[in-house]
Amino acid sequence: MRIKGKAYINTIGCQMNVYDSEKLAGILNAYGYEKTKDVDTADLVLCNTCSIRHKAEEKAFSFLGRFAREKKRRPGLITIMAGCVAQQEGEKAFGRLPHLDIVLGTQAFARLGTHLDALAAGKRRIVDTAESDVIFEAMPDETAFDETAISKFVTIMQGCENFCTYCVVPYTRGRERSRNHAAIVEEITRLSESGIKEVTLLGQNVNSYGVKDGDISFPELLEKVSRVEGIQRIRFATSHPKDLSQELIEAMRDIDKVCNHLHLPVQSGANAVLKKMNRGYTRETYLARIADLKAACPDMALSTDIIVGFPSETQADFQDTMDLLRTVEFDSIFAFAYSDRSSAPAAKFPNQLPEAVKMARLNQLLTLQETYTEKKNQALIGRDVKVLVEGESAKQREGFDHTDMKQMFGRSETNKIVHFPSNQAVIGDLVTIRIENAYPHSLWGQVSGS
Ligand code: 5AD
Ligand code: SF4
Repeated sequence: MRIKGKAYINTIGCQMNVYDSEKLAGILNAYGYEKTKDVDTADLVLCNTCSIRHKAEEKAFSFLGRFAREKKRRPGLITIMAGCVAQQEGEKAFGRLPHLDIVLGTQAFARLGTHLDALAAGKRRIVDTAESDVIFEAMPDETAFDETAISKFVTIMQGCENFCTYCVVPYTRGRERSRNHAAIVEEITRLSESGIKEVTLLGQNVNSYGVKDGDISFPELLEKVSRVEGIQRIRFATSHPKDLSQELIEAMRDIDKVCNHLHLPVQSGANAVLKKMNRGYTRETYLARIADLKAACPDMALSTDIIVGFPSETQADFQDTMDLLRTVEFDSIFAFAYSDRSSAPAAKFPNQLPEAVKMARLNQLLTLQETYTEKKNQALIGRDVKVLVEGESAKQREGFDHTDMKQMFGRSETNKIVHFPSNQAVIGDLVTIRIENAYPHSLWGQVSGS
């Protein structure tokens, strides 16, 4: 096929967007575009956007805004806004970005080629935000494939129907749809054949995988994926606390390849706030699930998402969240200041908090968590952890006394970065490392086996 030019893709937002961008790269490649990392020489620029918080949305507008002048100089340059902001804004995107060529919603990716044809035929300002119940099974994306990659995301379901009151996802990604399990297993088999050792199964609420569509359950899917030869580790995100089943806890305990790490977003430790968020569980039921999990899998690492400064969150509510952190002792957290999203119901809730209050609470929360992150890492000193080698460390450790050896890094099952000296270990190896030093965000050790 004749090469039409070079395509630059900028991905903002969640892991699902990383997966989607690889599919978009595959479509563009099949259409005749080569991928480039140099935005200045690109003939097509696509931004895969996120609208979860105001900041992410602004990033997309400012990135795409940069091409207004460039397009005057090079009218042939194609600019595309794809993903969640595109879905949310539709036609309105042209208000701030009059030079855009295509606004491609979250369920319109499969039609990108048709839209590029229309553009070539003279059509301008194309918008496609049509919703679709069909899961988009894109073509394999060999070109986006990075030979050094050992880990990949695989989206197993799209959309969300939980309707948390702060969240745009049900509006940007549509109703919940699960992919057929055979297609997922086939995709993972192909990834394994290309050298991938670890997959992360993605969905807004993986625990309800297959429930609506009558396909197999999520624990059954884990079992099937674990039988794919060559895949050594399976991760998944995100699980909703309200339907974290005993069956899933048991699958995590029993299937070796499933990593000892669960990301279970709690969002708040205060029942009044959880209710207003429409989360469908209480602080007590969340803690009960954590207790079940710890009983079944004592070494399980836990992480969570927290929003501070939700409308009408009181100081006492915030202290309940701080207290929940002390009770659970998470290995790590992702914490956010509440960001008002006009399409989400909470935007109309009374008692929105001042930015300064949100930021002060966010800082307090992060400071408290630091102590637990470090404590969890310190507890690993002297222990052996299995590490999947990802590459050579970018930075040498201060006082590193193995100057004759390469300094490598990888990830533990519990999702912690581990550095170690070795001239033998290569990317994709599973090695056992005895931890010697622990810092807030990294662990250091020596090879003790493989
Ligand atoms: N403001 C702040 N954080 C949000 N999240 C989702 N919506 C918002 C919002 N409006 C956070 C939640 C979610 C994570 C992916 O992003 O914590 O789990
Ligand atoms: Fe952002 Fe949510 Fe869309 Fe992912 S699904 S890109 S987090 S808005």
